Amino acid sequence: MTVRRGAVGAPAPRVEGLAKVTGSAAYAYDRPVADPVYACPVQATIARGRVVAIDGGAAAGVEGVLAVVTHREAARLADTADAELAVLQSDAVAFRGQFVGVVLAETPEAARQAAGLVRVEYDEEPHDTELRADRAGLYTPEQVNGGFAPDTDEGDVDAAMEAAAVTVDRIYTTPMLFNNPMEPHTSVAVWGDGGDEGGGGPGEARLTLYDSTQGAHVVRSTLARVFGLPPERVRVISPYVGGGFGSKGMPHAHNVLAGLAAMAVPGRPVKLALTRQQMFSLAGHRTPTIQRVRLGAGADGRLTAVAHEVVEHTSALKEFAEQTAVGARMMYAAPNRRTAHRLAALDVPVPSWMRAPGEAPGFFGLEVAMDELAQACGLDPVELRARNEPEVDPESGRPWSGRHLVRCLREGAARFGWEERAAVPGTRRAGRELVGLGVAASTYPYYRFPGSRAVVGYDGSGRYTVRIGAADIGTGAWTVLTQIAADALECPLGAVRVEIGDSELPPATVAGGSSGTASWGSAIVAACHAFRGAYGTEPPPGAEAGADMPRDPDAERFAMHSFGAQFAEVRVDADTGEIRVPRMLGVFSAGRIVNPRTARSQFIGGMTMGLSMALHERGVLDHRTGHVVNHDFAEYHIATHADVVDVDAVWLEEEDAHAGPLGARGIGEIGIVGAPAAIANAVHNATGVRVRDLPITPDLLLR
Ligand code: MOS
Repeated sequence: MTVRRGAVGAPAPRVEGLAKVTGSAAYAYDRPVADPVYACPVQATIARGRVVAIDGGAAAGVEGVLAVVTHREAARLADTADAELAVLQSDAVAFRGQFVGVVLAETPEAARQAAGLVRVEYDEEPHDTELRADRAGLYTPEQVNGGFAPDTDEGDVDAAMEAAAVTVDRIYTTPMLFNNPMEPHTSVAVWGDGGDEGGGGPGEARLTLYDSTQGAHVVRSTLARVFGLPPERVRVISPYVGGGFGSKGMPHAHNVLAGLAAMAVPGRPVKLALTRQQMFSLAGHRTPTIQRVRLGAGADGRLTAVAHEVVEHTSALKEFAEQTAVGARMMYAAPNRRTAHRLAALDVPVPSWMRAPGEAPGFFGLEVAMDELAQACGLDPVELRARNEPEVDPESGRPWSGRHLVRCLREGAARFGWEERAAVPGTRRAGRELVGLGVAASTYPYYRFPGSRAVVGYDGSGRYTVRIGAADIGTGAWTVLTQIAADALECPLGAVRVEIGDSELPPATVAGGSSGTASWGSAIVAACHAFRGAYGTEPPPGAEAGADMPRDPDAERFAMHSFGAQFAEVRVDADTGEIRVPRMLGVFSAGRIVNPRTARSQFIGGMTMGLSMALHERGVLDHRTGHVVNHDFAEYHIATHADVVDVDAVWLEEEDAHAGPLGARGIGEIGIVGAPAAIANAVHNATGVRVRDLPITPDLLLR
């Protein structure tokens, strides 16, 4: 059953837009709570070792300071199996920036001043933070993020490379990258008991957390486990979230720290906001990658071998294995294919999700290598990709639910003026500037995660309420879920009020994997149909019906991915090497677009993040100290308005008949995938210089 067209497909303005622009939308830290206490963390200044002494005397002497909490004073947690979340449970230091204490005070200023006065003595041990492909101790993880096998091997890549008429065998690298959502990570922790919070009995501890998160329910279940509470005695409230990109997709140490801190000042809520600098050690980051890509092809450009082998880091404290090479498994047809992931467990902060984990760094290597292959074959890069379209998913052998990459490439080439691209790199000039055009392909998998439930209620006067613990992190979920419900109920948009962002609502999966609209939306469609099935079009006041997200049998029969083609124009100053990107265009195939206004924002947001990854972003880890030295906006540059001129996104009009009741495959992450390669390929076309290491900085272009 598909949803009737009406609200779905319309460019509805954001339902929470007015609240946001007028400042009445309360983000976590804004929540008014009675008599708050402010927390400021104390962070380790060594990368590995033990805390041997802490002197909080000077800190405690600052006016307004209420407590200095270290591993000696902190409450014992019920579950420390997740080492990242075992906050203040021992004297061990596993990375620079790890929490070693927290100061609580009547004002944020006093807390911060006092935190700077806490004297910590360490027994420092040698640390190791350097990722190299030739280092000792690389290991194969059991699986990589997403649950994929670390390695695949099909046919004989080495023999195919020997026999190939044309080969590319290169190393590509991407640096350590950091999520920087506009709203930093914040938690307001309130301990109460059943007496004042309702539910449970007096004296039974209950934790309420106003949090900036991509998933209220996962924060609830995780903190319940860590603090040893039944889940129904933890409540997480997060209606408005100022960005996340994955860094708020799972609880991190600061959530636990807020809860622990509030235990130290009984009866008072604690507000904790990480500073921008603290986020660089505590919010997850993208691992640096070292990627060897090998492509073998006939003289006609048809691939005979694709190998993508990646070395990356994780934290010695907790494993996170980015799935960098997984996208290469399904992207192009070749009889001989190999992918591999090797990890170095280093004394670094815990890496985690960052927009399109896997595909974002992996498609820099793969899609620059494809450009190099096109050059070696004397083929247009669009044509090379068209020649290597797999009829079925090379990995699973399943048919595609809809693979329209070639349409995206051709449509983009026509719109972008691809025919103006110089056939010989470095030959097109406009005044002092060298002009180049580049292309790269994008993809991102369709995910629909089980575990969401929606409940529809009717108030008797024409208004419906749809309740689901989903998250809008700036994506437009508030709005698109309202549109989906209105169509499924066959009622006007204004008759539906959606409630999200609260763990008291029916459970919902995390806003991650570009899965929100498909997962929550199909639960909502099912609940609306259940409601109409039970009550018809004249429901009584108080009518209510709910449904779980239905199973998705097609997801096991089809290979389901979104695709895109990204085009970039670059202009390089021939004297200074300064790189400008005056134009980018993405043409995407993502199934049905539920709201073109918010979808466009997702696509161009991802592309802008890709531009930033191409030209600006690089975490600089000083291996002597284990410190990311450029841990602020002064030195970790993120693309700003001055860097972003004309980024445009369009999409194919389509519905994916296999992608659930909405026919939508997800749009949140694909925009970043391929964008850095398109720019790198344009830089090559402009200058003749092939840059294989991100970011592309002017010095690399001055020879
Ligand atoms: Mo996104 S990295 O799946 O939150």
